[in-house]
Amino acid sequence: MVLVSEQVDVLAGLVSGGGVVVLSGAGLSTESGIPDYRGASGAARRHSPMTYQVFTRDPLARRRYWARSHLGWRTIAGAVPNDGHRAVVRLQRAGLVDGVVTQNVDGLHTAAGSSGVVELHGRLAEVVCLECGAGVSRWELHQRLAEVNPGFAAWGSTVNPDGDVDLAESAVAGFRMVDCAQCGTGVLKPDVVFFGESVPAERVARCFTMVESARLLLVLGSSLTVMSGRRFVVRAAALGIPVAIVNQGATRGDAYAAVTVDAPLGRVLPTLADQLGAVPDGAGQLGAVPDGAGQLGAVSDGAGGPVAVG
Ligand SMILES: NC(=O)c1ccc[n+]([C@@H]2O[C@H](COP(=O)([O-])OP(=O)(O)OC[C@H]3O[C@@H](n4cnc5c(N)ncnc54)[C@H](O)[C@@H]3O)[C@@H](O)[C@H]2O)c1
Ligand SMILES: [Zn+2]
Repeated sequence: MVLVSEQVDVLAGLVSGGGVVVLSGAGLSTESGIPDYRGASGAARRHSPMTYQVFTRDPLARRRYWARSHLGWRTIAGAVPNDGHRAVVRLQRAGLVDGVVTQNVDGLHTAAGSSGVVELHGRLAEVVCLECGAGVSRWELHQRLAEVNPGFAAWGSTVNPDGDVDLAESAVAGFRMVDCAQCGTGVLKPDVVFFGESVPAERVARCFTMVESARLLLVLGSSLTVMSGRRFVVRAAALGIPVAIVNQGATRGDAYAAVTVDAPLGRVLPTLADQLGAVPDGAGQLGAVPDGAGQLGAVSDGAGGPVAVG
């Protein structure tokens, strides 16, 4: 069995070449206290996520969603970036990472200081009116909901991956939803891509362009179960662009990977950034990679190229 440290060396060799595009998933934020769907912290088995069709067609399901989500929002909004997000920033400042595509809706890459992040599935911090298209900040909506639901904040439990909490139906029944303040009647939806909804085509195209010009696609904390993220791995592999995956547990992209590292991101990514000489957190300047960093953990022949898709 290959030791994780050897795999991190292989990874460092690949990343040292620069031109890295990161594709991150829920696993990068578990160490910030936000559970994923399919990892150890996942709640997928006891809680099925809201779909676009149910949300738009069923007012009761919508009220349940907002009641739960109103309570979960404080946890999501209070989450802070972890060592993994910060290491991505270090690699970006060292000029090794060119872009970040995230499937996460928590805004933590940007909060950590990453620039030019494409949030494939949107952001929970933004809300949109399905009628007039007005955008509203989540905090503004939170205030309005708190005003019409005094005392409701007392309910709730542990946060779920969608940023909501489990609630008894009796509690949901007492929750009052508000409509869009701009048009007066429009249904409000968090500006995230629900299951059963498509990512806007222009956003997908932007991600494909980023991936196609990458020298390495680095997957961080995603099971790649959902095609929405996996398609970028498939595209990279088809173009002969190496794919590296850091994830605890197997992913649906492992067959395409030149290297996989099965270890916590909060440990692997800072180690990687250290090995590559990226300046530490808070050093406050654009970091240059020291001479010789490019030789660290050079990939030996036969380390495994991407698998062509047939
Ligand atoms: N934080 C968020 O914004 C958030 C949270 C849950 C779900 N989601 C949404 O749900 C979908 C979930 O798909 P996904 O592939 O991103 O997540 P996923 O839940 O399918 O997979 C996460 C993977 O990360 C691994 N993992 C968990 N913690 C880790 C750690 N500390 N180090 C290394 N690996 C770790 C898990 O074992 C799992 O394989 C995404 O589309 C996303 O939009 C977002
Ligand atoms: Zn409106």
